[in-house]
Amino acid sequence: MNLSITATTPLIGAITLPGDKSLSHRAALFASMAEGTSTVQRFLVSGVTHAMLRSLTALGIEWKLEGDTLTVTGKGITGFNPPAESLNCGNSATTIRMLAGALAASGTPGVLDGSEGLRCRPMDRIIEPLAEMNVPLTSSNNCAPLTMTERNAATKLKATNYKLPVASAQVKSCLILAALDADGTTTLQEPGPSRDHTERMLSAMGAAITTEAPYTVKVEPLSKPLSPLDITLPGDISSAAFMLVAAAIVPGSELTIRDVGINPTRTGIIDVLREMGSEIIILNKRVSYGEQVGDITLKAAPLKAIEVSGDTVVRMIDEFPVFSIAATYAEGTTVVREAEELRHKESDRITILCNELKKLGVELEEYQDGFAIKGGTIKGGECESHGDHRLAMSLTLAGLQSPNPVTVQNAEILNESFPEFATNLEKLGCRM
Ligand code: S3P
Repeated sequence: MNLSITATTPLIGAITLPGDKSLSHRAALFASMAEGTSTVQRFLVSGVTHAMLRSLTALGIEWKLEGDTLTVTGKGITGFNPPAESLNCGNSATTIRMLAGALAASGTPGVLDGSEGLRCRPMDRIIEPLAEMNVPLTSSNNCAPLTMTERNAATKLKATNYKLPVASAQVKSCLILAALDADGTTTLQEPGPSRDHTERMLSAMGAAITTEAPYTVKVEPLSKPLSPLDITLPGDISSAAFMLVAAAIVPGSELTIRDVGINPTRTGIIDVLREMGSEIIILNKRVSYGEQVGDITLKAAPLKAIEVSGDTVVRMIDEFPVFSIAATYAEGTTVVREAEELRHKESDRITILCNELKKLGVELEEYQDGFAIKGGTIKGGECESHGDHRLAMSLTLAGLQSPNPVTVQNAEILNESFPEFATNLEKLGCRM
């Protein structure tokens, strides 16, 4: 599918978006590890969450999806059956890394695999710390496929004290899950504020997890079964980011997105759009099942260039493709530094992003750890998603105000995380 967008009028209106991807992954997996039946409303139904659900089926877990309500029958932390075939985690790094932790805790043998793209993502970041905990997980090249061999279920894993070299919620979550079956307290320290949904959700289910400054998590082994969930998930701020940037770059726009998750580990995109000049207010703030939620309203105003580095990078780690489009329409040169981790996402979101923007005429400079984008230089043209859902959606938005149309090839990959992308933009008056 090729995708192009035009906006002849400002984007005005109020929308509600599907549930958060990170929370949907966690809710499905943790529910399967609880004892009893969980209900998860506003579950994100998309390519990557189906990868998780498919893997849970292969592990002998029963679940039912009616609309966006997911019901899961959990069998406890050791309730997985060894899968008959390798688990197909599709394109989802969250699925493979969190399942590795769950299989470690349950002592279930199996092979974890996925798409060609997933096979290129680094897995040494989980293999090495899991090895310190005596988890028998191996790979021939530090990438998927990963093989978990059987271990004596009577022997607990070794509690560890581990410093993550890179802030990563996927790695942290994998190790937290393994630590639920360790022989003592596991301490994990990160160099930055990665999303803390795992800590919040597992604590709500009865796990003993505490957080301490700076960015340190302590996990006790489970002393009682996890309780099932009865939860309504908030909208995904990472999907909201596409709508917010779209409204930010079309003059006169005023957009409200209701019921969005505003966990502070995820709101870097709001901070940077505000700093660039967009007027953003968050109303109706509340806490729902341990997660902050609110209604976000953005009023378009001229955007100016900014610099982004440090903790803000972690707090908007998935938003750089769409942020680069805001930078393309800002006055001045926007600089991103200390963001080398972007090279390890669904695509190399530094080189590939820069190359695709260059195809559209954008003047930029690439750095090993980021990029600098000169605003006001876009011309339009054809570009390619490279199998990266966020690149597909971001590049599509590049066409909103470009002198010539932008066409994104192979854009159907956006169904991995945000199948309602086009319908929501159409609701706001865009033509797709
Ligand atoms: C995710 C964590 C992030 C993010 C990914 C989802 C999660 O990765 O990029 O899309 O659900 O834990 P890292 O925190 O591992 O960088």
